[in-house]
Amino acid sequence: MLDQLNTLKEKALCELNELTEVTQLPEWHRQYLSKKGELTQFLKQLGQLSAEERPAVGKAANEVKQALKEHFDAYQENLQEAKLNQALESDEIDISLPGRRYHRGRLHISTQMLRRINEIFSQMGFQVYDAPEVESDEYNFQLLNIPAYHPARDMWDTFWINDQVVLRTHTSPGQIRAMKEYYPKPIRVILPGKVYRYEQITPRSEHQFYQVEGLAVGHNIKMTDLIGVMAEFAHKLYGSTRKIRIRGSYFPFTEPSIEIDMDCILCKGNGCRVCKHTGWLEVGGAGMVHPVVLKNGGYDPDEWSGFAFGLGVERPAMLKHGINDIRSFYSNDLDFLQQF
Ligand code: DAH
Repeated sequence: MLDQLNTLKEKALCELNELTEVTQLPEWHRQYLSKKGELTQFLKQLGQLSAEERPAVGKAANEVKQALKEHFDAYQENLQEAKLNQALESDEIDISLPGRRYHRGRLHISTQMLRRINEIFSQMGFQVYDAPEVESDEYNFQLLNIPAYHPARDMWDTFWINDQVVLRTHTSPGQIRAMKEYYPKPIRVILPGKVYRYEQITPRSEHQFYQVEGLAVGHNIKMTDLIGVMAEFAHKLYGSTRKIRIRGSYFPFTEPSIEIDMDCILCKGNGCRVCKHTGWLEVGGAGMVHPVVLKNGGYDPDEWSGFAFGLGVERPAMLKHGINDIRSFYSNDLDFLQQF
């Protein structure tokens, strides 16, 4: 029996030494050392031995079991280490490889300009007021003193959702919403947002673009307050040497209405292609809030007055960066957008 035991031991060790993969180890363990393994089966035969033989064989069997266990553990450790070394040597992790470039997102050029405009007006005490892009005919036109069939409606080519609902053609309807919400408090808000026009798309005009509306309502607000705010805005955005001028104009929701210009930032007023040789660039429309509009917002025009303005966002960005095609803003061309 001792011979059998030795043969078993040699066979087991011999097979163990032939294993080359860590994954082969469990099978070997099952075959020799588990409860159903060959060594356990062997030990079960001890019962058949005589009482004199049994202790010696039992002792030898336990020694073999111990030896197999130790060999197995050592062999397992060796194989694992060899595998790790091999992985390191074969450079599975090549720490000298250049890293993958991390693509950083950035703010859209319109967003950058909007944030700059917001910042300038917030320094002058204006709060941002949000108004919806889908508007009723009532808010987009009627409450702004533009009744149905009034010829002034021709100023805004409109996307109609149905005969009551439009995509807002300007940010002005937000004036009414702000007044209705703030009444009877004084107001100083700007309303930045997207507007829509049913217009041909050309390098100079898009069917969607941004505006920033402004509204101040209070006691004793005058045209000079408006002009002061516009001048401050031009100085902050384009530099303190900018000059502004005002021209009489017409908007149904302001009386009187003005157009604000600024001396051309490219030719400094001498005349160039960008300012169409006038020396002046348009900044936006503005005026004193029409009494009818104040009333529609809940404010009594005998006690309250206010000014309003509407500024473009893409145009200043185009000027600042020398962009000559407004369509670039919405064509999702990353090469274009990543420049800013
Ligand atoms: N809503 C006008 C437009 O889109 C711009 C405008 C002009 C807004 C005069 C105003 C304003 O608030 O007073 O053409």
